[in-house]
Amino acid sequence: MKFFIDTANIDQIKEAHDLGILDGVTTNPSLMAKEGIKGKEAVFNHYKTICQLVEGDISAEVIATTFNEIVEEGKSLAAIHKNIVVKVPMIKDGVKAIKWFTDNGIRTNCTLVFSAGQAILAAKAGAAYISPFIGRIDDGGWDGMLLIEQLSLIFQVQGYKSEILAASIRSPNHIIRCAEAGADVVTSPLDSILGLLKHPLTDIGLAKFLEDAKKSA
Ligand code: G3P
Repeated sequence: MKFFIDTANIDQIKEAHDLGILDGVTTNPSLMAKEGIKGKEAVFNHYKTICQLVEGDISAEVIATTFNEIVEEGKSLAAIHKNIVVKVPMIKDGVKAIKWFTDNGIRTNCTLVFSAGQAILAAKAGAAYISPFIGRIDDGGWDGMLLIEQLSLIFQVQGYKSEILAASIRSPNHIIRCAEAGADVVTSPLDSILGLLKHPLTDIGLAKFLEDAKKSA
């Protein structure tokens, strides 16, 4: 399972990259706004910076919602760097645009996916990645992991080439359960990635080893 970080924060991207386990980055308009990145030029420059930091797929999301505009915006985003993957919302014009991008050699990440039916359409249109939002499903009182399990099964049975990119991660346990359920990629905030490191018995064990090491020094 590949690890992407879900942020536009440069320090957090650097920290995950320095850990040596980072395969890519996803962003969205909300994450850009959180970092105070305003205006098309600033957004494009920010993507360039991220592409220079991380050698891996970088998802850049379109704001447009009509076919022609999605295609034009997606072409501009894809021209920023070879590793840019155009992130397109799961709407009717989005599916049409994903098919256009597929036919024209531009890779896409279909975002805002909340059901198996939506994921099947995105896979048929040729999306490179499909992003089910498991945390937001949980927030609504359902179980986002059931969708990851369902998609793993469907994609295996049907031989779809799209990668399941589990998004809207809320905890280290989400990451573990995504690995178990067969997600191809998980995109996560830094704190959930770092949460995987933690175990109190590791801390207790290390403290004891260091204490005992002093006895034989
Ligand atoms: O980037 C898409 C997704 O990961 C958003 O997550 O936490 O806003 O539901 P969240």
